[in-house]
Amino acid sequence: MTGSMTQGSEMTAQTTGPQWWRHGVVYQIYPRSFMDGDGDGIGDLAGATARLPYLHDLGVDAVWFTPWYLSPQADGGYDVADYRRIDPRFGALADAEKFITQANELGIRTIIDIVPNHVSDQHRWFQAALAAAPGSPERARFWFADGKGPGGDQMPTNWLSSFRGHTWTRTTDPDGRPGQWYLHLFTREQPDLNWTNPEVRAEHESILRFWFDRGVAGVRVDSAALIIKDPALPDLPEGSVAPGRHPFLDRDGIHDVYRSWRAVAQSYDPPRILVGEVWLEDPARFAAYLAPDEMNTAFNFDFMARAWDCDQLRASITETLAAHASIGAPPTWVLSNHDVTRPVTRYGRDDSSFAFEKKRFGTPTDIELGTRRARAALLLCAALPGSVYIYQGEELGLPEDEELPREAIEDPMHFRSGGVDPGRDGCRVPLPWTEQSATNFGFSGTDDPDPAWLPQPEWWGQYAVERESADPGSMLSFYREVLALRRTHSDLGRSGFAWSQAGSTCLAFRRGAISCVVNFGPGPVALPEGDLVLASGPVEGRMIGPDVAAWLRVDPAEQAHPTDQIDQTELVRQINKQHNHAKE
Ligand code: NOJ
Repeated sequence: MTGSMTQGSEMTAQTTGPQWWRHGVVYQIYPRSFMDGDGDGIGDLAGATARLPYLHDLGVDAVWFTPWYLSPQADGGYDVADYRRIDPRFGALADAEKFITQANELGIRTIIDIVPNHVSDQHRWFQAALAAAPGSPERARFWFADGKGPGGDQMPTNWLSSFRGHTWTRTTDPDGRPGQWYLHLFTREQPDLNWTNPEVRAEHESILRFWFDRGVAGVRVDSAALIIKDPALPDLPEGSVAPGRHPFLDRDGIHDVYRSWRAVAQSYDPPRILVGEVWLEDPARFAAYLAPDEMNTAFNFDFMARAWDCDQLRASITETLAAHASIGAPPTWVLSNHDVTRPVTRYGRDDSSFAFEKKRFGTPTDIELGTRRARAALLLCAALPGSVYIYQGEELGLPEDEELPREAIEDPMHFRSGGVDPGRDGCRVPLPWTEQSATNFGFSGTDDPDPAWLPQPEWWGQYAVERESADPGSMLSFYREVLALRRTHSDLGRSGFAWSQAGSTCLAFRRGAISCVVNFGPGPVALPEGDLVLASGPVEGRMIGPDVAAWLRVDPAEQAHPTDQIDQTELVRQINKQHNHAKE
């Protein structure tokens, strides 16, 4: 039996106030795969709107939509053809406005995705650039360059794509002869914009206003550290590059862009927020994006990518808290998103860390083990200071679908790897809402739908919302309970953080009157003093087994940090002390 001594807690109001993002819970919707309202097998905004009560019951404060704009979908919508139009597969602008309004009525904010690094090759700007001559203002919005070598037939730089392979494609001139090359850090259908061009900056500020005026609460900024390039287009040298000197990653000029975006966001009431997708290893460089006049928060990929390992996660939490405390920004805790292997699959592998380069077909996993760990991981994340991100289906404990037929795969990462990398579609399979396989497991809101755009495996129904809702031991019931308790225990939103003494295979920390313990070891551990609030697995005689976490309510008189605010200096001191202790 899952240990819970707080039954039937009332669902409280969603997190309120302009600072909600400091500790809110954000649910990520991948619109193609969340809910199909019209039976064409593709998720849409009408479907998402119909499921707002589900999101409300889950207890989220905001949703983040991956791109919903007009797009040829060469990269799951991250190839935007027109920012001011909704892709017809998903609906129309009125459907987006309806979603935003109805979500707001339920206390759920809407965050949308902005993709500043690139647009679709079908975007009117890029089409105009192709039709224009070298050196033209149309081409100056992108990175067009002559090739190197005789006839200009070598790429202008040696830059490699995070989607593997080269980053330049050659154009053809109107007379049929080979022309200039253009830069694309991702696929050839995603030409990079030139952010030294004031038109590019003005256009994006106008796009932000377009959506802020429609009531969106903020934007998630895609590939945020990539947008500025060295205009000299130097080759990437071999070996390491000094911070800020990389030709296209994390260049110093980037901060000026986000400062102006923050000014736009702050001019609204309530202020809108910026959430950065910033993949950087150096904690100080990462924290620079969270200066008080830049982004509000950024995804914590360091934590997300670590193995299920006590020392690894302790180190990541310690470094995360220190980096964020240094700049006064709240951390985020993320277990998954539309790009990475689902947690129940990843945590069940021998190597449970995440890296894009490591993804291969046929890597064995133990889903039961992964599920136990994913439950514990949620309890851990929900107890830490900061906000929590949940990717659709994570709350159902959906595994990665690793058996998608090859011919169904659409993800360019798969193709650009020569078919070696399975790609990201395994975490993008349309959600199961019912157990009825004949109707796309309830994904499509009709009795006679078209097949789902990605095939759902026949075992999908065991993870259906309908089934899990009726099962108090399901992942869904657990997520609902954890999020409800997180709200009722205001200490988890506001109090300081202090590590507690724990064995070498346990993490334990205090947040005001709540204590969180996670057992990573091979055997059972005894829970410390305190009333059990909730556990992610069985509790027998105050013992929790391997890969189980628990929350306890401790005597308030013994609170490590009775304050309502995190004391930054004290926090850093504590963290350093614990860190050193952990290393000894
Ligand atoms: C990050 C997004 O999360 C991913 O899905 C996309 O492919 C790349 N950025 C390129 O836009």
